[in-house]
Amino acid sequence: MEILDGKKVSNDIKNEIAAEVSKMKENGEKVPHLAAIIVGNDGASLTYVGSKVRACERIGFESTLVKMPSTTSEQELLKKIHELNTNDDIDGFIVQLPLPEQIDTQEVLMAVHPDKDVDGFHPTNFGKMALDMSTFIPATPFGILELLERYGVETQGKHTVVIGRSHIVGRPMSILMGRKGFPGNSTVTLTHSRTKNISQITTQADIIISALGVPGFLKAEMVKDDVVVIDVGITRVADESRERGYYITGDVDFKNVSKKASYITPVPGGVGPMTIAMLLKNTLLARERHRTRK
Ligand code: GUN
Repeated sequence: MEILDGKKVSNDIKNEIAAEVSKMKENGEKVPHLAAIIVGNDGASLTYVGSKVRACERIGFESTLVKMPSTTSEQELLKKIHELNTNDDIDGFIVQLPLPEQIDTQEVLMAVHPDKDVDGFHPTNFGKMALDMSTFIPATPFGILELLERYGVETQGKHTVVIGRSHIVGRPMSILMGRKGFPGNSTVTLTHSRTKNISQITTQADIIISALGVPGFLKAEMVKDDVVVIDVGITRVADESRERGYYITGDVDFKNVSKKASYITPVPGGVGPMTIAMLLKNTLLARERHRTRK
């Protein structure tokens, strides 16, 4: 069994990007600038956005964090998005999800200009991804592809089972694993909360990508020997004995599933750090496209 070490690989990627940024500075070029909008005070979201902004600073990008109160109206958020769309200094930006319930998430994501949509959530970019065109690939699926590629995990002809059909992870992942090329060329089954006899499907899987958010959902008896397991779950479980008051756990019963797996991602330290690294990679790409459009 080999651990797919997202912490290590994400650091490698960040170092590669930092080297690119140094070259840009030496050449007197503008460095990439990422902005993030966060609406409200959700603890986990604030932590994620904070990590994204700190990662930018560490590798030499410029970053801007826009904090808006939880009472923000859709109109106010759309106005802020318009400002970022038209601010020539900003190469790319994200709107952290989830949004408060008074705001229509789809309307918001459609307002982000596709050229600045480094999350790859705009229908134009999502459509391009499905059609194998060059675009921004959503950071979490992009990070999973990168992990599989860097560890040389065979995907061609394999049966990939994706658990969860979210717009951010499960749905794009199911498309990407079936595309021509590497990683890809696998036969994909997309399962979700209404799937019957899910164990019957997961025991047939060569690769399982679980993005459900249910701690310990995937058990050893649900997988076959030598399976590749990618755990996208990051659930906070309350625990008073810890200083932070919680611990982070994934969808996979790691202790037992890891005994059968050929490759497995840990939580934390697997997919999570990769998401941030790939957002930075998309921002670098956005800068390059922005520069050459002029
Ligand atoms: N919330 C959870 N994951 C993500 C992500 O990748 N991007 C944004 N914008 N919000 C998220």
